[in-house]
Amino acid sequence: MKITTLFIFLTSTLAAAASPTPTTAPSPSFTYNATHFLLNGAPYQILGGQMDPQRIPPPYHRDRLRKARAMGLNTIFTYTFWNLLEPGRGTWDAGEADSISSFIRIAQEEGLNVVLRPGPYVCGEREWGGFPAWLASVPGLVVRSNNAPFLSAAENYLENLARELEGLHVRDGGPILMVQVENEYGSYGDDHGYTSAIKGLLQNAFGEDKVLYTNDGTEQWTLEGGSVPGVLAEVDGDPRAGFAALRKYITDASMKGPLLDGEYYTWTFDSWGYNRSSAPAAAFVSDIEYVLGNESAGLSLYMVHGGTNFGFGNGALWQGKTRAFTTSYDYGSPIDEAGRTTPLYHTLRDTLLKYAGGSVPDVPEDIPLSEIPAFDLDPAVPLFDTLDGRNAVQSENPLTMEDLGQAYGFTLYSHTHTSPSSVSGLLSPGDRARDRVLIYINSVFAGVIDSTYAYPQNLTVTLEKGDTLDLLVENLGRVDYYSRGTDFPNEILDPWKGVVGNVTLGNTRLHPWTHHPIPLAQLPHLEIAAYHTSINSTQPLFLTGSFTLDTPDPDPARLDTYLEIQGGVKGNVWVNGFHLGRYWSRGPQQSLYLPGTVLKEGANEVVVLELEPSRGRGGMKGVGIKDRLWEVRGDGDCAGCM
Ligand SMILES: *[C@@H]1O[C@H](CO)[C@@H](O)[C@H](O)[C@H]1NC(C)=O
Ligand SMILES: *[C@@H]1O[C@H](CO)[C@@H](O)[C@H](O)[C@H]1NC(C)=O
Ligand SMILES: *[C@@H]1O[C@H](CO)[C@@H](O)[C@H](O)[C@H]1NC(C)=O
Ligand SMILES: *[C@@H]1O[C@H](CO)[C@@H](O)[C@H](O)[C@H]1NC(C)=O
Ligand SMILES: *[C@@H]1O[C@H](CO)[C@@H](O)[C@H](O)[C@H]1NC(C)=O
Ligand SMILES: *[C@@H]1O[C@H](CO)[C@@H](O)[C@H](O)[C@H]1NC(C)=O
Repeated sequence: MKITTLFIFLTSTLAAAASPTPTTAPSPSFTYNATHFLLNGAPYQILGGQMDPQRIPPPYHRDRLRKARAMGLNTIFTYTFWNLLEPGRGTWDAGEADSISSFIRIAQEEGLNVVLRPGPYVCGEREWGGFPAWLASVPGLVVRSNNAPFLSAAENYLENLARELEGLHVRDGGPILMVQVENEYGSYGDDHGYTSAIKGLLQNAFGEDKVLYTNDGTEQWTLEGGSVPGVLAEVDGDPRAGFAALRKYITDASMKGPLLDGEYYTWTFDSWGYNRSSAPAAAFVSDIEYVLGNESAGLSLYMVHGGTNFGFGNGALWQGKTRAFTTSYDYGSPIDEAGRTTPLYHTLRDTLLKYAGGSVPDVPEDIPLSEIPAFDLDPAVPLFDTLDGRNAVQSENPLTMEDLGQAYGFTLYSHTHTSPSSVSGLLSPGDRARDRVLIYINSVFAGVIDSTYAYPQNLTVTLEKGDTLDLLVENLGRVDYYSRGTDFPNEILDPWKGVVGNVTLGNTRLHPWTHHPIPLAQLPHLEIAAYHTSINSTQPLFLTGSFTLDTPDPDPARLDTYLEIQGGVKGNVWVNGFHLGRYWSRGPQQSLYLPGTVLKEGANEVVVLELEPSRGRGGMKGVGIKDRLWEVRGDGDCAGCM
């Protein structure tokens, strides 16, 4: 049965929101019966798509939402990332929270309802699945488990989030329809005590009357592990397999209801060193027809717009090696990373419009991206010269990043060999590299041990009396997903970064150690070193450059560009102090989305931290290009690595 009444009820919600005393609309409600979601008592077919406000520059929230509505969607699914909301224990970022509540208000203004997916675990190819790193240091805390320290931290987060979203629920005339419990928990475990506890926290935070649902994979064990009595059970992935599995394995009436594919994948993520093929649009059309037409069910396109893992936002997978996600979260989605519509958008829109009902707005015009002529990046100061000895921590054995109270970035581990006899052997930086270790002997670059390979470089090191060994360890992003169905055990969302265990040369344990945390939450004061013109460093180097914009434009989207760091090997980029993210010549990502929102009239300052300046092809330059540069290239650090 095709539902044609949809738009009428959507507009009545909007009318109710606009006028405090609606005369004809029923009192706002969102519920469901065995076959249908019901908005204000009438059938509501979910034509959903996911975008996460924390992956989109806030000034562009309206643009992305308007394009989603124009595609024929009526509902936006959205994750919230706990680590950005509560970056330190008890430290609530009101600005971050405000950008989420304003996103939800704008969604409503653009004619969209919202399904909230607050986790507390969200996966999402995000750093530690959205968990803040400080959870690792809370005594006795075990994430995603029926564990008092974890539930107490989660309760605090959910209560704070709920306070920010007060008044935005359907009952109050707002757009939030329902809230997801945890995220694909059945892939991870089957402790129903834990998921029931999360259900209770969500009911306390968002109200007993709030519709809750779970979203799991299409297997019997994932559905049985993740479903919660009294909570509507839904699936993600292949809708045909998923709906069949829901019908077969969800037998408890209190979990049954209308069918929803809570994540219908409109393609996939990117990770460093991996190609991905292009999206099979015809298969998508057939699946969407099946869900919306044959089944009269609901779906959410994951992602309708992926956006960007700015800064150190990306997560990783453990597959016997680290598979780290790129800064770009383009995902091959219908609205691309820069917010422009793609051919896939228009193909899927043609299908969605058959089910959207009512009047769907026209597709907003795509503004072309801009170009920035090449500008020089000049050596400013080596990274190690910016370290402040007052922040150094000494200890006999290496401390992890988390032991040091550090969430993201790099940690430098230094050891000086003091005994008269030399020591030599294969260098082992702890239980394994976590994640990418740059090695220096007496400040000269000696190689890389990189956990993105199952078999990284074997580096034999000899230390004579007085030699210093430095290990610069990069956190490439904490693992965000572990499935009890995979072949890679012992890595259950392990948060630890830096050096875990002891560093050995052959059979010799090296000690003691000096640690320099380099979180790069703020850039160091880059006083250009007096000797900068003669820098030819084999150490990580800050470089600076600038370009001038002299045509002010009221629409920042006209300034959007992709920034390529030419001659760079691996590093991070900041523009006007905003941390765009990581670049890596290995690819596939060869340019970073630079939103016009961070640019300004006059001089724009670019800072680059290049980790391997001596491997670059000579002078480094920045350049803004109209089309993203995207290709997998060789890895000069580990040509023979697998
Ligand atoms: C659920 O609601 C819809 C719309 O009002 C109605 O057509 C359908 O019969 C209801 N289903 C059940 C099982 O009550
Ligand atoms: C990636 O794809 C390109 C183009 O199809 C191909 O030349 C290259 O070998 C691939 N690289 C990897 C690592 O698969
Ligand atoms: C879906 O519906 C179409 C049109 O009614 C029909 O041709 C097709 O066979 C159906 N497919 C399935 C899998 O039921
Ligand atoms: C390092 O040594 C191991 C064990 O001999 C080997 O399996 C691996 O391939 C080596 N790595 C490289 C990059 O050669
Ligand atoms: C590191 O070595 C010390 C001294 O042998 C030992 O006490 C400690 O347990 C080791 N740490 C790990 C994690 O193995
Ligand atoms: C910098 O060092 C590299 C390798 O050590 C060398 O080949 C190059 O000529 C040097 N460049 C300058 C400008 O000194």
